[in-house]
Amino acid sequence: MNLPEAVSAIFRQKFGQPPAFIARAPGRVNLLGEHVDYNDGFVLPTAIDRATFVAFSPAKNDQTTLWAVDFDQQAIFSPETLEAKTGLDGAPLPDWARYPAGVMWALRQAGLETPALNAVFASNVPRGSGLSSSASVEMAFGVAWQTLGGWSLPPMELAKLGQRAENHYVGVNCGIMDQFASACGIENRLLLLDCRSLEWEALALPESVSIVVADTTVRRKLTSGEYNNRRAACEEAVRHLQTHLPGIRSLRDVSPDDFNRLSAQLPTQTEKRARHVVEEIARTQQAISLLRSGDLTGFGALMNACHVSLRDLYEVSCAELDAMVEVAQSLPGCYGARLTGAGFGGCTVNLVAREHAETFAQTLAEGYRARTGLAPEIYISKASAGAHLL
Ligand code: GLA
Repeated sequence: MNLPEAVSAIFRQKFGQPPAFIARAPGRVNLLGEHVDYNDGFVLPTAIDRATFVAFSPAKNDQTTLWAVDFDQQAIFSPETLEAKTGLDGAPLPDWARYPAGVMWALRQAGLETPALNAVFASNVPRGSGLSSSASVEMAFGVAWQTLGGWSLPPMELAKLGQRAENHYVGVNCGIMDQFASACGIENRLLLLDCRSLEWEALALPESVSIVVADTTVRRKLTSGEYNNRRAACEEAVRHLQTHLPGIRSLRDVSPDDFNRLSAQLPTQTEKRARHVVEEIARTQQAISLLRSGDLTGFGALMNACHVSLRDLYEVSCAELDAMVEVAQSLPGCYGARLTGAGFGGCTVNLVAREHAETFAQTLAEGYRARTGLAPEIYISKASAGAHLL
């Protein structure tokens, strides 16, 4: 049974009738532009063919009942309990329920109707793996409430409300990349987003390459602490640099030359964090022109450089991610390999010549197992469509 059939069957068991609708929203993998979305930089993600599915129907009263198949748990809340982040029983909502509840909260704040619903949901985006399982849950529920609420928002607007839910309800100060990719994904396309203007375009990936996602299986819960600290360091760097460059609003406005000239003014750790961001924004811009001109070798080299920077300057890698990247970079057909997403565990993204992709995946799995004793999950990813109703 596939996932939409499974959530549908479980819905029928729980609620005694088939669901009225099923929504799907994908996870994402990011090729380049890491930890720059909240610095107004450029990102290059693609929606993947792994997704969250929500089977849902309108509820008869004002109580929203959610069944999370992956946790084997239920949560019930109403508009009255939403603000306090509790269920009807007065107990705090479990972590998993804060994503859909946060979406309801953000939509209501924006003045949109969010009729109570009964829902069963499940995901094959692995949690805590850097593939944005939380954004996929948020966007799937965004589509569910859009369907029942009778309003319609452009996907980017839904993405912004999902980000708001995560920033202000869940408490992770994330940027817009994940919700954007989950909402706006296009089959067989990379998405290039300017995180300042929110203008974006779809780019074709050359036929001759595959995107291979390699899961270290190491899960380090994206502690909002570690992530929020990194973001705070970037903001601190901007405040310091503003005394010399009064016109800047974010690290996006600082050129690598200006940064080199002024970096001695920054506290050591802040300097490392900001250097990653300034250089990564420059790298992404350069990479985009390389991609447009079909220079995959050059593009891959910048992915490799990104990993080094995330490891040594931003300090969000771990031994298993480094091992996965090192093995990958030694294999035939690999243009570039690096950790993807927030880091601290999870997945790497690999750009691999299509004719080598299958062998690459197999050899990488063996090499990683030999180095770490862990059995990874590796698959060739397909760029998929953004959040929609099935
Ligand atoms: C997480 C966040 C994104 C982005 C990445 C790092 O996935 O949700 O907004 O900051 O980390 O690039």
